[in-house]
Amino acid sequence: MLGYTSLVALSSSSYSNAISAQPKLNMVTGSTSIYDVSTSGNIFPIDKLDLSKCSQGWGSPEADLSVDKTPLTINGVVYKSGFGTHAQSVLQINLNRSAVKFTSMVGIDDATKGQGAVIFEVVVDGKIAAKSPVMHGGDAAVPISVDLTNAKRMILIVRPAGDGINFDHADWADAQFELAPGATTTPQSATTPLEPARMIIPVTPAKPEIHGATITGATPHYRFRFLVPVSGKRPMTYFAKGLPPGLKLNMHTGIITGALPHDGKWNVKLIAKNALGTASEMFTIVGGSHKLALTPPMGWNSWNCWAGAVDQSKVADAAKEMVQTGLADYGYTYINIDDTWEAPRAPDGEIMANQKFPSMRALANKVHSYGLKLGIYSSPGPTTCAGYPASYLHELQDAQTYSKWGIDYLKYDWCSYTSVAKGTGLEYYWLPYAVMRGALNQVHRDILFSFCQYGMDDVWKWGAATGGNCWRDTGDIRDSWSSLSSIINAQIGLQKYNGPGHWNDPDMLVVGRVGWGDPHPTHLTPNEQLMHISMWSMFSAPLLIGCDMTKLDPFTLAILTNPEVLAINQDPLGKTAYLVSKTNNTEIWERPLADGTHAVALLNMGYSDKTISVSWKQLHLSGDLAVRDLWLHKNEGMHKRGISFKVPIHGVVLVKIGHFNANKA
Ligand code: GLA
Repeated sequence: MLGYTSLVALSSSSYSNAISAQPKLNMVTGSTSIYDVSTSGNIFPIDKLDLSKCSQGWGSPEADLSVDKTPLTINGVVYKSGFGTHAQSVLQINLNRSAVKFTSMVGIDDATKGQGAVIFEVVVDGKIAAKSPVMHGGDAAVPISVDLTNAKRMILIVRPAGDGINFDHADWADAQFELAPGATTTPQSATTPLEPARMIIPVTPAKPEIHGATITGATPHYRFRFLVPVSGKRPMTYFAKGLPPGLKLNMHTGIITGALPHDGKWNVKLIAKNALGTASEMFTIVGGSHKLALTPPMGWNSWNCWAGAVDQSKVADAAKEMVQTGLADYGYTYINIDDTWEAPRAPDGEIMANQKFPSMRALANKVHSYGLKLGIYSSPGPTTCAGYPASYLHELQDAQTYSKWGIDYLKYDWCSYTSVAKGTGLEYYWLPYAVMRGALNQVHRDILFSFCQYGMDDVWKWGAATGGNCWRDTGDIRDSWSSLSSIINAQIGLQKYNGPGHWNDPDMLVVGRVGWGDPHPTHLTPNEQLMHISMWSMFSAPLLIGCDMTKLDPFTLAILTNPEVLAINQDPLGKTAYLVSKTNNTEIWERPLADGTHAVALLNMGYSDKTISVSWKQLHLSGDLAVRDLWLHKNEGMHKRGISFKVPIHGVVLVKIGHFNANKA
């Protein structure tokens, strides 16, 4: 018996269909059975679909093989057809009434040797039509059968079963459709529905507006550089009242340079004027050691777009575009070179840049001339993740070289460190970061320190004490729904480790043209992109744009420059969003802000539009409170008990709630 009783079939017809869907046993060889689906005229096997449209958490979708490219095998049973994937996995299929039934055997592939745990789900026209129990590695396959009569769209989902995605190698074995009698089309795989983004793109006002962080910090006597972020028509003239001695503002460029004289706190009035008006904002400058990243860093990094194809001119272009597109007017500052810039060391051990970067010093000068800052990448082992020379046993020498070149940010990975690591437990994970922190402390330059070790040994618990300004808390992001949604859920409970100067880092942004050396428009839908930017703001995440800066489209620019959303990311209180509630398909997150108001994100993680409600009680709030929708730039009036919004598929509603005037349109 193949265990169909464990199938949780949610459509009335699927239980009986499940029984009739048992595949025919064609052959038995020793302990391994081989099933073959007979393909008659009205059977359409799933391997005929373009499976490359499947979005998944690891590896690539494989026709008739497991994600490991081995024969599809569940609990000793080998299946000839189907497809192998990896949680979190989403395959969308347009049916357009072409099929009447879908059947499959599902389970974890034997290649995991008993590891992994997943749930299989079939969604038909926005409703869950079938769902497996939690399936563990080694469990016998269970049959799934779904009635598709008149169905338009179907989604095959494999979710991790609450224990992360490791070893979640999931097989849709013998998966097939029974075509409708006389059908003139067949099922087609599709990308996520491209519903319009739930936002409006406002016209950037021509009058000056000051954006970005309201606070920054630096070490006294070290070189200070800060570009006042102001949008509005150029030319612009800048003034500042109350600047600390030692700093001066260039009134034509808006760049503040110099060095702070001593520890302290200065409240500065920044003023920007153009032909149409004047803007002013209060700004705090803090002097002291380890005062970097008082708000999350904002900027660009080369990896998600260029990976190994990065070179000096692409980085210089990114800096130029940061200014020309207006992104710098909103606080984006860092221009970070990721892996593959390194050449073998000189005979005296000094790290060299390879031929792609003829002069790091010249590049730094260029980037600094815009008021921006330059970042670089290394690893604590002998080689980086891409196999280039890394900092092992050269930490101080490298920190000195970075300082000499004019580097302002170091992303420090983990790769290859395992080959030289000593100690056990915390010491094993912590040591390489402590060593590089010690090296950075010895150079007379402020270099923001970013750990990139994917959350190992709960880095959030010791990252700040080790002098990290931010630390990656998950594996690498991709431009897929499975990647985005699993990274969002990996942040649950981590809010307490965040604060000014030290931030959880859920990885770089995947909006715009991304592609790790082969750029394409992001595969995230417009609403998924809004969720990405909203949640990175709710999480106080570093906002490092990962796309080709020379090909920014108006939508991407608009979602990166919503001042009301960026103000949440840069909120000086530095308290990060916590999860208020979660159902199968909805999530509510809340974040307290410095002005006493609250940011709330309502997320639709499902495949049909949802009305999501939140009560003031759930948010520990009370009274008559104003509500403002930050993507629609719309005041929603006063509310006494709570609010409800319709949220599109994979969309977000981001609101600010509290005491402010919300009756203005
Ligand atoms: C790791 C990091 C990426 C990138 C590459 C470079 O995978 O997580 O962000 O830096 O290394 O090789």
